[in-house]
Amino acid sequence: MINIILSGCNGKMGHVISRLAEADENVKIVAGFDLNTVQTFDYEIFKNPAEYAGTADVIIDFSHPAALDGLLHFALDRKIPAVVATTGLSAEQIEQLHEVSRQVPIFFSANMSLGINLLIDLVKRATKLLEDSFDIEIIEKHHNQKIDAPSGTALAIADGINEALSQPYQYVYDRHSVRKKRDKKEIGIHAVRGGTIVGDHEVIFAGTDEIVTISHTATSKEIFAQGSIKAAKFLAGKEPGMYDMNSLLASL
Ligand SMILES: NC(=O)c1ccc[n+]([C@@H]2O[C@H](COP(=O)([O-])OP(=O)(O)OC[C@H]3O[C@@H](n4cnc5c(N)ncnc54)[C@H](O)[C@@H]3O)[C@@H](O)[C@H]2O)c1
Repeated sequence: MINIILSGCNGKMGHVISRLAEADENVKIVAGFDLNTVQTFDYEIFKNPAEYAGTADVIIDFSHPAALDGLLHFALDRKIPAVVATTGLSAEQIEQLHEVSRQVPIFFSANMSLGINLLIDLVKRATKLLEDSFDIEIIEKHHNQKIDAPSGTALAIADGINEALSQPYQYVYDRHSVRKKRDKKEIGIHAVRGGTIVGDHEVIFAGTDEIVTISHTATSKEIFAQGSIKAAKFLAGKEPGMYDMNSLLASL
């Protein structure tokens, strides 16, 4: 049995994970952290991680970047591994994750779905073949409640493309502010927000007279919740270090 602390337990993702955990005999949520302490499930909720005196095997975090600092202090203090799925983290916060991972195992992925991680793999292969003659653009679409833009996943795809390129390209988010032709060495990243779209990511390789499109559509938040529970099972008991979906996929 893996005991989990759920950070952001009263959010949309928190509720999906709580439901799935109730149906999984191998995991148990022992406490929740959230600014909103209204109780819906059968575990206690704490506003401040430091208030929780108990223990756990792993933390799953789907909350807000503002919660990260307190959560990482708690994880370090109690030596509890953490699966961090919150997006919109700053470069300093990602550096902070790496620092903490020297003492406590940290799993970080901007997208916990298996399909997106396969898409990144396919996109890297396409980039190697097409980089000389195709322009690369990413379009992501999400529901109208999403705060950060572009999505952490769109940035993770762009980072994957840059890893595959012989020299990194620049990210361009806003073509409105500059009147000039597209530079070859750029990746355009565009965000659409509306309705209840769970998450669409499309990578366009536009060449002369032909277009290759690789895309992924999430139709339910369960794929991220299931992925994070898999990540929690994978991370519990691991050595300190930085882990991601590639480490998890390699272990399957
Ligand atoms: N990595 C992935 O696969 C993946 C998938 C879906 C969502 N996400 C990310 O997870 C996060 C949460 O998503 P959501 O849709 O559940 O959002 P949400 O807004 O529904 O839930 C966030 C929860 O965090 C709580 N919260 C906010 N600030 C806090 C703070 N400072 N301290 C403690 N709790 C705080 C809120 O009260 C809320 O209950 C977002 O960053 C989202 O982009 C990641």
